[in-house]
Amino acid sequence: MFNLNTYNRLLAAKRLGRELIELEEVDSTNTWIAKRLGRDGIEKVVVVANRQTAGRGRRGRVWLHHPELNLAFSLAIPMPKETSLNGVITLAAGVSLAEAIGEVSNVTPELKYPNDLILNGKKAAGILTEIKKCGEKSFAVVGVGVNVNLSAESIHESVKEIATSIRIANGSEVSKEAILALFLNRFEDLLDRLETSGTRSVVEKYKKLANTLGRKIQITGAGESFTGVAIDVDMEGGLMVEVGPGDIRRVTSGETIFSD
Ligand code: BTN
Repeated sequence: MFNLNTYNRLLAAKRLGRELIELEEVDSTNTWIAKRLGRDGIEKVVVVANRQTAGRGRRGRVWLHHPELNLAFSLAIPMPKETSLNGVITLAAGVSLAEAIGEVSNVTPELKYPNDLILNGKKAAGILTEIKKCGEKSFAVVGVGVNVNLSAESIHESVKEIATSIRIANGSEVSKEAILALFLNRFEDLLDRLETSGTRSVVEKYKKLANTLGRKIQITGAGESFTGVAIDVDMEGGLMVEVGPGDIRRVTSGETIFSD
């Protein structure tokens, strides 16, 4: 069960999350909200699921979700018609999540490009951002999955080497309601900044949390695979990778694997 008292007490956002819909079971919260984009006030809705039967990760992967102990939610952000914000919205979500988790625990999250949330070298959360059209309007459907209170024993065998939870890193349980409310507070603030003053401050915040810059990486699945050194994130959220002296490629999709 989701503790609405904690959530409502901590929610300061004026728009995001003002309508919380809690589902016992759904295929995917991203799919649920994508089907309702025409609904009045959809930008105020956050949908939280206790159980997802077809949770989706980036690049067509399955997202495993442990009921009760984890957090799975989605929201829809209306996008301006002509926009280069798509890449930065997802980075803003990563920054907001890292800051929210940092505030409820003793852990210091890092972000692996684009926004895998890493604790002590293992993944504890992921974000799936999908751009969807509804009539004339366009939305970013932002879905977040967080391993909150999983114990080491309950991490699925297939991902034990690469996955962790906030509880494991923190040493004690944390409130998933607090993470959601604090995430929404920060995300709303960053979305306002994007609208009023452009992408710079969000990208700068992102770069401080990113563990990818300066590292030798391999990019796979973006139509090709190559290695290089991640040198920067540009103002539209693209990762700049130096593949040879002076030969820089811009990456916006694909999978980042550390190779140093
Ligand atoms: C990833 O790291 O690959 C992204 C994982 C995103 C999972 C969340 S859980 C809530 C929302 N609903 C989904 O089906 N996926 C996202």
